Amino acid sequence: MEDRYAFLAEWYDPTAALLRRFQLFFYPKDGSVEMFDVKNQRVFLRRTKYDNIHQEDLFMGNRVNVFSRQLNLIEYGDQYTANKLGSKKERTLALIKPDVVTKIGDILELIYSSNLIVTKAKMTKLSWSQAADFYMEHQSKPFFNNLVQFVSSGPVVAMELMGDEAMSIWRKLLGPADGAVVRREVPRSIRAQFGTDGIKNVAHGSDSLAAAARELEFFFPSTIGHCPSNTAVFTDCTCCIIKPHAVSEGLTGKILNSISEAGFQISALQMFSVELANAEEFYEVYKGVVPEYSSMVNELSSGPCMVLEIHGTDVSKTFREFCGPSDPDIARHLRPATLRALYGSTKVKNAVHCTDLPEDGVLEVQYFFKILDG
Ligand code: TYD
Ligand code: MG
Repeated sequence: MEDRYAFLAEWYDPTAALLRRFQLFFYPKDGSVEMFDVKNQRVFLRRTKYDNIHQEDLFMGNRVNVFSRQLNLIEYGDQYTANKLGSKKERTLALIKPDVVTKIGDILELIYSSNLIVTKAKMTKLSWSQAADFYMEHQSKPFFNNLVQFVSSGPVVAMELMGDEAMSIWRKLLGPADGAVVRREVPRSIRAQFGTDGIKNVAHGSDSLAAAARELEFFFPSTIGHCPSNTAVFTDCTCCIIKPHAVSEGLTGKILNSISEAGFQISALQMFSVELANAEEFYEVYKGVVPEYSSMVNELSSGPCMVLEIHGTDVSKTFREFCGPSDPDIARHLRPATLRALYGSTKVKNAVHCTDLPEDGVLEVQYFFKILDG
């Protein structure tokens, strides 16, 4: 029998102002989808081939776009799907420490090559007391003060990693905490490659599922409440969005590396899942001007994107040049070293958005880091 995965999905229907529930079926053999309306007990979408859904996108809590409808996956639809896709899926916290935040591209490359994905990310700067709260379990240790002091000394990047056995895979990737031990015994690990000593050891990884749940809640609270704030400065800045297609293609690490290698300073970084209405609002100025407007809106709301504040004097123009012409085919001809030439495929899936006009830089950064991260 042909493989079929089943999910329970919710879609907010804006015209009826109703939350509708569907069974969503995915057939991996030909990448086709089918939808069944749960309330009205009828077929909503006949089995249709749809290139924009991949098996890796199908996990609980994720949002997928099916023909411009944003579907929230809220449950596995049957035991077979839960066993096959969900059984070993875990979430864990990775916290990149202040001295290696500029190495985040390399670290992401190693994360992706271990079959983990990044589902949340936020650059933040912890106060002394926030760092002390986070490391509460080490309160009585002799290294506690130094550790808290170091972790609160500059921006860090917190990330939620997801995948089969994510917690232990991330710890294995990191290697042991001690600087001498790690270099001697696990020279290919992240801590051996990028670490300095027992405190400056690149990153933190949760050491149990209970710790992961607590630590993820610390940075990414499930209910509205206090959480460490973003690091955006809102002056002399421009906005860069690594688009959802590039995030799901695993290009984030490469793109961040290219940006850093070109000498641009990333002063804020955060992943957002943009609602359709917010994507429309963000791209408002292109409405009726650019023929791709509605495809751009769909792309931006099709999954998580990564938003950056790039900081520097007159950075808007130089960063825009570095992104290249909006059509990647043209970019590959005229500016082969630009981000869009390197990582884009079409005018809509062109890897990155960047602010067009210098005077809009602050506004676009504010849209994400003030309004959406409110
Ligand atoms: P620990 O939880 O033992 O290691 P891990 O980060 O692998 O979970 O320690 C937490 C942090 O405390 C560690 O990343 C760095 C710091 N530390 C020291 O500074 N000195 C030490 O002797 C130890 C054990 C940890
Ligand atoms: Mg630990």
